[in-house]
Amino acid sequence: MNILILGSGGREHTFAYQIAKSKLCDQLFVAPGNAGTAAIATNLKVDLTDFEAIQASVIVNQIDMVVVGPEDPLVNGIANYFAEEEALQNVMLIGPSKRGALLEGSKERAKEFMLQHNIPTAAYASFTSESLAAGKEFLETMKAPYVLKADGLAAGKGVLILNDIEEAKNELEAMLGGKFGDASTTVVIEEFLDGIELSVFVLTDGKNYKVLPTAKDYKRIGEGDKGLNTGGMGAISPVPFADASFMEKIEKRIVKPTVQGLQDEQMDYKGFVFIGLIKVGDEPYVIEYNVRMGDPETEVVLPRIKTDLVVLLEATYHQKLDTTTLEIDNRAATTVMVVSGGYPEAYEKGKEITGADQIEDSIVFHAGTAEKEGKLVTNGGRVIAITSMDEDFRKALKKSYKNIEKLHFDRMYYRTDIGFDL
Ligand code: AMP
Ligand code: GLY
Repeated sequence: MNILILGSGGREHTFAYQIAKSKLCDQLFVAPGNAGTAAIATNLKVDLTDFEAIQASVIVNQIDMVVVGPEDPLVNGIANYFAEEEALQNVMLIGPSKRGALLEGSKERAKEFMLQHNIPTAAYASFTSESLAAGKEFLETMKAPYVLKADGLAAGKGVLILNDIEEAKNELEAMLGGKFGDASTTVVIEEFLDGIELSVFVLTDGKNYKVLPTAKDYKRIGEGDKGLNTGGMGAISPVPFADASFMEKIEKRIVKPTVQGLQDEQMDYKGFVFIGLIKVGDEPYVIEYNVRMGDPETEVVLPRIKTDLVVLLEATYHQKLDTTTLEIDNRAATTVMVVSGGYPEAYEKGKEITGADQIEDSIVFHAGTAEKEGKLVTNGGRVIAITSMDEDFRKALKKSYKNIEKLHFDRMYYRTDIGFDL
């Protein structure tokens, strides 16, 4: 079959890398893709907010399956668009409906869903500008630190954790006053959970599910998890502290009721659920749902899946995931993200990258790269992820770091301490 992947990051290069190996894949396309995907697939210039342009591309290239990487097209209803358009009836789109995507698109909706389906999460209340005074009173009843979350998508910046009550009240007012535009018209205030984070990934056809490998990502720009939040600077899979008994709790208390909830609410969910968790003592709590795979978590999760990914995705579309078996590589996978100097704030693009062809024993997943006049150049904040596998994550990390030394571009930066807290 012909397959189209939507997106342009390290996550999408990883999907392309796995799908290109599938016995079911004839022609592979990525829109818009990067220099890495161009080497193994055909990149298509398509604007992901323009569903008509995506449709035209699907028809011209006789695409049978579309895998959606990022959340925006999902939250904007690409699955509904595919379900409604006559010409797209036989195209298998992997991704939830608009209603399903609200689990990521609205923090308030996600909290309601968890409450309704008895899924453990932090206690919360939500407020709008009309209830600002009540919101401030609610803060008085909470203990520091105070967690304020913009309801809508805010490019990963919509969560504030504050120690001072006055600051928390002022920020609540600023958020409800439009600090994050429409995304903070509603603000969720929730109890602070003190623990260690991990992520669990689930592939579901809306009825059946497979629990994919766990991962832990490192979101801050600086060593020791200091400084600004980024999309993710590195990741490790599996998460060493997520042992069998902890995973059993996660499956029983979180994964099962989540999938049951999707089914009970007829959300028409065929795709990935990325569950952000916090382990408090020995108990798992959900901090967020994402309706897609993570980046750079994908770069460590997918390489550990031995089953043909397209077989799994086709079964997902036909609600037959129960007929497949998921085979996992027991080795650990790590990825280290190499970024442009200045990221996550202002940075320059177009710097020549050298050494990518020297890398041995690791996989080079391109994120923000492009080809310009025959040269590989930077084209984003996160530039390249170096993924390695070995019997434990420390050995795998060593390989990634050894290979990174061969890479070079002006103002290149990466964290040297991925996995420091494990
Ligand atoms: P989110 O965008 O929901 O993933 O939140 C961003 C980050 O804020 C998370 O990765 C956590 O580190 C932190 N966070 C969110 N909610 C809580 C909470 N209730 N308690 C403690 N930390 C939180
Ligand atoms: N690495 C976090 C995310 O993809 O949301």
